[in-house]
Amino acid sequence: MSTDRSLAEALADHIAASGDLRSPEWRRAVLDVPRHEFLRDGFFRRTDEGHVTGWEPVLPDDPTWLPACYANASLVTQIAGGIVPRDIEGRIFRQPTSSSTMPGLVVRMLEELGVEDGMRVLEIGSGTGYSTGLLSHRLGDELVTSVEVDPAVSGRARAALGRIGHHPRMVIGDGLQGHREGAPYDRLIATCGVLRIPVAWLEQVKPGGRILATVGGWLYASELACLTVHEDGTAAGRLLGGEVSFMLARPHTPPPLGVLPDFAREGTERECTVPGDALTDWTARFVAQLAVPGAQRFSLMDGDGDMDVLLDVHGESWAGLRNEKGRWIVREGGPEPLWRRIEDALLRWGRDGAPALGSFTVGVSAEGGQTVSWPSSAG
Ligand SMILES: C[S@@+](CC[C@H](N)C(=O)[O-])C[C@H]1O[C@@H](n2cnc3c(N)ncnc32)[C@H](O)[C@@H]1O
Repeated sequence: MSTDRSLAEALADHIAASGDLRSPEWRRAVLDVPRHEFLRDGFFRRTDEGHVTGWEPVLPDDPTWLPACYANASLVTQIAGGIVPRDIEGRIFRQPTSSSTMPGLVVRMLEELGVEDGMRVLEIGSGTGYSTGLLSHRLGDELVTSVEVDPAVSGRARAALGRIGHHPRMVIGDGLQGHREGAPYDRLIATCGVLRIPVAWLEQVKPGGRILATVGGWLYASELACLTVHEDGTAAGRLLGGEVSFMLARPHTPPPLGVLPDFAREGTERECTVPGDALTDWTARFVAQLAVPGAQRFSLMDGDGDMDVLLDVHGESWAGLRNEKGRWIVREGGPEPLWRRIEDALLRWGRDGAPALGSFTVGVSAEGGQTVSWPSSAG
């Protein structure tokens, strides 16, 4: 057996043991679709230096490249919207913008998607094309459409798919608009995150069809949502749990922060009723995000210590949190008391028994209004 085949076997065994890979059809796809073909342009390995995250290129001539292609890990393939591994030597300290998703997560999503023979699938976020390759293997190229916003990324994915004999429909464009020409679809899967499920997806998926996407926000907590589209154009479903995160779809990334208020002097100060470090918990952060969907979060360090800041650049509201000898103090400014909104939501969620994300439900109206709720102890 070739080295890459035995590496693919080991990967399939690993993701079957973790429960992500469940069916023989997807096992065959993992064995037959060589992930390394999608990583021939290399990937970036993370290098942490103190608080700073850097990325260094790993190319196919590196002996660690092939085994890494078959590790159950996500591999970054593009940084800062255009830089690929062959572009740099040394390290780069910017944000990843494209990657090959962790195979276990891709396969878990494909299993949850409930794909059956003959179904038409729309994928949003082609990336390297690996997940597109798995879908093409399972369904046949003519039933698979994949949309990627970045033309160069899409071109590399198309080339990799071609190398292994697959030619699905590869579309360059904003996947939040779907791809009307190929509709209706039985299934839609997004491997980039969204703030809310776009109306175009509801319109392009058949009634009874399924949408699987990660719903997140600017406080960086997110979760897989699995929704069924109804005859009336609405969709409903639930979060699946597992703390799944994806890079946000480009039109949903946060806007620039702009000129900052004077967090030390403006607004009014009070003691918190919920401690400022509550947001270190993933689920609490998700709940907070539902309460203040326009807020971004960052840290500021000055002579008096760290401040955790929430800022809604559209509404011009903000909250700065600091710990003074064990007491959490918040200073809030602007029309919306952001931390008060978060406190209210977290206290309500706590009174309801702090349910896990896997029990949350999601509904989307035909006009795109999205509601995410947790089970209330009040019934
Ligand atoms: C995590 S990667 C996808 C990984 C891919 N499934 C794989 O297996 O390699 C997310 C991709 O979504 C793309 N993307 C971001 N916003 C998008 C949008 N609005 N429409 C389509 N693709 C988008 C990014 O450029 C990136 O390539």
